[in-house]
Amino acid sequence: MEDSNKKQLVTTLTEKEYAEVFTTYREKANEHAVMYDMAKPVCQSFQGKPIDFLSIGPANGIVEDNFMKRNGLRLRSYHAVEPNNFFREELKTTISEWSNEIKCTIEPHYFTPNYPLEKKFDLVLICQSLYAMPDKLGVIKKAHSLLKKGGKLMIFHQSKEVVTNQFIKTYLVSNQINDENVPLNAYELSDMLKAIDMPNTIQEELILVDVDDYLRNKKAEDANHVMELLIQVRIEELNTSLRSELRRVMENVCVVNSNGKYEFHYHQAMIVVE
Ligand SMILES: C[S@@+](CC[C@H](N)C(=O)[O-])C[C@H]1O[C@@H](n2cnc3c(N)ncnc32)[C@H](O)[C@@H]1O
Repeated sequence: MEDSNKKQLVTTLTEKEYAEVFTTYREKANEHAVMYDMAKPVCQSFQGKPIDFLSIGPANGIVEDNFMKRNGLRLRSYHAVEPNNFFREELKTTISEWSNEIKCTIEPHYFTPNYPLEKKFDLVLICQSLYAMPDKLGVIKKAHSLLKKGGKLMIFHQSKEVVTNQFIKTYLVSNQINDENVPLNAYELSDMLKAIDMPNTIQEELILVDVDDYLRNKKAEDANHVMELLIQVRIEELNTSLRSELRRVMENVCVVNSNGKYEFHYHQAMIVVE
């Protein structure tokens, strides 16, 4: 299953590089803290009752860990579908600190619209993992079909097209890569779901990302990581003109914060489907 589905990932980052850049990104963006706050009412709606939880693309599981520690979510079972080997090792470490009473399963696959899974869940989470999935609507429909009666599907996704998406497109065209993965923002997804009779709520928040090391051309090892996560490509692999174009666009859109650091702003949305 893993090999045939790998084709859907259009990225020149290896699994290890992706895991590294995402770790840096989590340190430099306030995204995760914002997501925990947005998710709090949904976590609390289960009123402390232990639930069956499915996470599609959890990486190291930091999100669900914080749903428990900060938002009071309690798990009876935890089911993860995570294709990245490096993330799965980190996820095992996260889980090892949870109560033994939580029955945990980690599947090393890519989730797809035809993903075979018999179990049903109280809460299904698709957190920042739709980007690499070509058939986003198909994946959401499948995830929704895995809910128990009264269950909830929670999706975190960018709510507007981020400027760096244009770079991915330019890169793909210049490398003659045929990409079937059409970027869709969270509002477009929300409307598509409403059109197929899947009512949902959507709310968005501003995300701040520190890109100072990148824009000031610092020699720090992780200076380019945030940009590499956003464009999914190693900066060194971009041709010179794309590299300088990326820098020029970022200089134009970033702001200097009160600490004198360059910050990139974008919007993040949470969609909840019941
Ligand atoms: C940006 S990370 C988000 C990780 C985590 N949910 C978080 O927000 O901290 C995207 C994750 O989706 C995973 N992923 C990519 N394609 C996937 C697929 N088809 N099925 C399941 N996970 C996938 C990646 O391996 C990675 O762990």
